[in-house]
Amino acid sequence: MDLYCVMGNPVEHSKSPWIHARFAELTGQELHYGKRLIPLDGFATAVRAFVAEGGRGCNITVPFKFEAAALATQTSERATLARACNVLSFQGGGIFADNTDGAGLVNDIERNAGLDLSGRHLLLIGAGGAAAGVLGPLLQARPASITVANRTLAKAQDLVARHLALASLQKTELLAQDLQGLAGNFDVIINATASSLSGAGVPVTARTLKPGALAYDMMYGPAAQDFMSWAREHGATPRDGLGMLVEQAAEAFRIWRGVLPPSRQVLAELRTVMGPS
Ligand code: ATR
Repeated sequence: MDLYCVMGNPVEHSKSPWIHARFAELTGQELHYGKRLIPLDGFATAVRAFVAEGGRGCNITVPFKFEAAALATQTSERATLARACNVLSFQGGGIFADNTDGAGLVNDIERNAGLDLSGRHLLLIGAGGAAAGVLGPLLQARPASITVANRTLAKAQDLVARHLALASLQKTELLAQDLQGLAGNFDVIINATASSLSGAGVPVTARTLKPGALAYDMMYGPAAQDFMSWAREHGATPRDGLGMLVEQAAEAFRIWRGVLPPSRQVLAELRTVMGPS
């Protein structure tokens, strides 16, 4: 049986084993996908041990996404831009690193929520690892503009600077801004900050929202609820990050197995399993 797993710390509540088990069932692939709690100082050792056991690939979650990218012998363009990876594949003694988070977000917005990003005005809130993982693929979707807004402006400026070449290729205007005084008519706003985890509330004012705008929180479950309620109260269409979670997994599954699983079906099943959000 081909072995896969998710490595993280914490990892207990990861939905990835459930999602990949459903993908495998629905596509008739024989594999086992587990989860591994990795000591904070033991990531490289854990990867080597998994490879020695016959592991074929793994997903990487907090806090190892940066270390995983550094460990790789080969890195995809999108993982290089993100400087982080969420998927490792082991082949011929090498470690291939990729990042499917951004593709997961874009696929969830475009396919599942039915909103074509091309020509739209986007606001990406945050400039940490989560934002870095999605900016490249958002640019690939050719929106008219992306404004990256962050509490610490310098981090937004850094992130924007290393994506300027791609932005100009895609003919997308790419800007960095402070959170203070941020306003504008955005078609899509994406919360990629950790502010809800600290109970700090929504990091932008409703002046950023156009009526009917899509307001997307990359988190799901209770962590996304404040942002979703705020969006609903201000006439926007809220969406949590559960679809992104399933779609990033689908893209990882395709990389490993060469088969694209029925992600929409699995997302619908997962929403039922998790209960109303
Ligand atoms: P992650 O990997 O989840 O992105 P991170 O790299 O630590 O975690 O980044 C956290 C992001 O959330 C940053 O953009 C951070 O803003 P700063 O760069 O200014 O620290 C943002 N963030 C965290 N708490 C916040 C808050 N209370 N209000 C606004 N932004 C917040």
